[in-house]
Formats: sequence, structure tokens, C-alpha cells
Amino acid sequence: MPTIVKVLAFSLGLALVFTGIANLLPQVEGQAPEEVKVDIGALTMDGFIALGENIFKNKGTCTLCHNNMGRAPNILELEMNGTCEERMADERYKGAASDVEGYLRESMLDPSIYVVKGYGKKGSNDTQSPMPTVNKAPIHLSDIEIDAVIAFIQAKDGGDVTVALPTDVPAAAPAVEAVAPTIAATAEEAIAKFGCSACHAVLDSVAEVGPSLKDIGARSSAQEIRHSIVNPNAIVVDGFAPIMPPDFADRMMAKELEMMVEFLAQSK
Ligand code: HEC
Ligand code: HEC
Repeated sequence: MPTIVKVLAFSLGLALVFTGIANLLPQVEGQAPEEVKVDIGALTMDGFIALGENIFKNKGTCTLCHNNMGRAPNILELEMNGTCEERMADERYKGAASDVEGYLRESMLDPSIYVVKGYGKKGSNDTQSPMPTVNKAPIHLSDIEIDAVIAFIQAKDGGDVTVALPTDVPAAAPAVEAVAPTIAATAEEAIAKFGCSACHAVLDSVAEVGPSLKDIGARSSAQEIRHSIVNPNAIVVDGFAPIMPPDFADRMMAKELEMMVEFLAQSK
């Protein structure tokens, strides 16, 4: 069986395990999964599309914002091929794209070049996008990963996939290695893995979608921080929308949660 299929079967198995133990949190300790590599030579377009879906939902952290909570266009529900055409026909569109692939790539690499009406940063009158540039920190997608995401978005509603399969892997960016979720070893890794920095100023991120976490320890106890992560909508911080994903507790190992709580409680 091609390696990619094995990797996906593996990830799926793991996802089921995560769901199964969700309710046991925070008592559970996890076992690190073995590292899995994908053989680019054996990659088919179906495998590439599946990889793009996995990146969209995991490493890319796209679903943290692109979901049904109104924070960003719900890409999984929208028919995106037609949507992209409409955006490019908008008189406010000043980008350089002339086809769906170009629009999707531009949206990821230069989010503020065109901001979908109503979704701009507060006070920017839709001139500044809150979306992070996906090939930079904290998301850091490689060119191959970006192509895979485009292939997924083009294919999900039955459209033509115009991106080409990768033919070689640049030494610095073995994109597909990241597919299998591994258990974070440090608080910093956990913060990166769960995409906290897409919304919060923390570590080297300056995101402003949620409150800064750089000084959270000065205003909240470890217990309050834990509660904010596990059950974010119980208390919504004034001046912010209730858009922090409510499912972190289902996706984290107890150890990951506790490392983050300890790290944040010390950030003053
Ligand atoms: C922190 C929140 C956030 C994250 C994370 C995020 N986006 Fe976005 N994205 C937005 C917002 C808000 C918009 C709408 C404003 C704009 O046009 O830039 C948007 C717009 C887009 C658009 C244009 C949609 C349209 O209807 O024209 C695409 C395509 C897109 N994002 C793809 C992605 C992909 C792929 C990822 C993951 C690799 C991602 N985004 C991650 C917030 C986010
Ligand atoms: C999609 C955006 C988003 C992501 C991703 C996100 N948050 Fe949040 N977070 C918010 C928003 C918005 C608030 C303020 C509203 C609220 O309290 O729910 C918030 C509130 C918090 C608070 C309470 C802050 C305070 O000042 O009391 C903590 C702690 C927190 N988040 C930690 C995290 C951690 C840790 C992660 C990653 C595991 C994370 N968040 C991921 C958007 C996000």
C-alpha cells in the first residue's frame, strides 16, 4: 500500500483514539506516535488532496478561523471555485490573480491584498486582514503544503485541480512529515501545535484576535488559565468575540495542557 495511505490510515486511527479518550482528560498521558515519512514518488493526486485536507484541519490551523462561527468565510461549506471568481470580479479587488488557483494562493500569501467584506481587522474598514501569512510564523507552510491545500480546496466541490503534484522535496521542507500528530514535548511546542499564536500574542506572535498571553500570569491563576483553555466560552473576556475553539480539551493530552498552563501562569 502506498505510504501516504498508511499515513492517513494512521492519522485517522489516532484521531479516533483521541476522540475516544476525550472525556477522560485531564488524567490521560499519551504515548508519542512513531515518526512517519511519505514517499513523494508514490504520491497520487488523491493522496495529495487528502494531504491538503489534513493540513487545512491540523497543521495549517485554518479551521480555527474558517469554521461556522462567523470569524472568517466558512471555506469547507462555501463552493470555493465560484466564490473565488466572485471575489476577483469585485470592484474592490486589486490583487494580481486571474484564476482560482492564483486567488487561493494570493489569499494565503498576502491576505490583506483583498479583504472579504466584513472580515477585516477591527477599525481597518476591511483594508487589513486578521489572517496570518501562511508561509511565515506561526503557521509556516512550505510551498508543497500550500499546493496541497489549494488542491484540496479546488477538489472538494468537484472542481478541476490545477496545481501539479510535487516532483521533488526541497531538503529544508519535507512537507509531508508533519502529517502524523506528535505529542508536544514542551509548552512552546504545544502552543505551536495547537495554533494558539494564530490568535494570541504569545512567544513570537503579535496576533490580536484574542487577548495577549504575554502577561496572562499577572492577571490570572493557573486554574483560571486552565479553565479558559478547556472551556473558553464559560467566561468571555470583555471586548473579544467568543471564537476561541471549544474543543481543545478533546484534542490535547493532559501533559500538553499542563505544560501550557504552567508556562502561561509564569508569563508576567
Ligand atoms: C486567525 C484566523 C485565520 C486563520 C488561522 C486562517 N485564516 Fe484564512 N481568512 C481569515 C479571515 C478573517 C479571512 C477573510 C478576510 C480576508 O479576506 O483576508 C480569510 C480569508 C481567506 C481566504 C479567502 C476566502 C474568500 O472567501 O475569499 C482563503 C482562501 C483563506 N483565508 C485560506 C486560509 C487557509 C488555507 C488557512 C490555513 C492554512 C487560513 N486561511 C488560515 C482568517 C484566518
Ligand atoms: C481562533 C482564535 C483563538 C485560538 C486559536 C485560541 N484562542 Fe484563546 N482566546 C481567543 C479569544 C477571542 C479569547 C477572548 C474571548 C474568550 O474569553 O473566549 C481567548 C481567550 C483566551 C484566554 C483567556 C485570556 C484572558 O485574558 O483571560 C486564554 C488563557 C487563552 N485564550 C489561551 C489559549 C491557548 C493556550 C490557546 C491554544 C491552545 C488558544 N487560546 C487558542 C481566541 C483564540
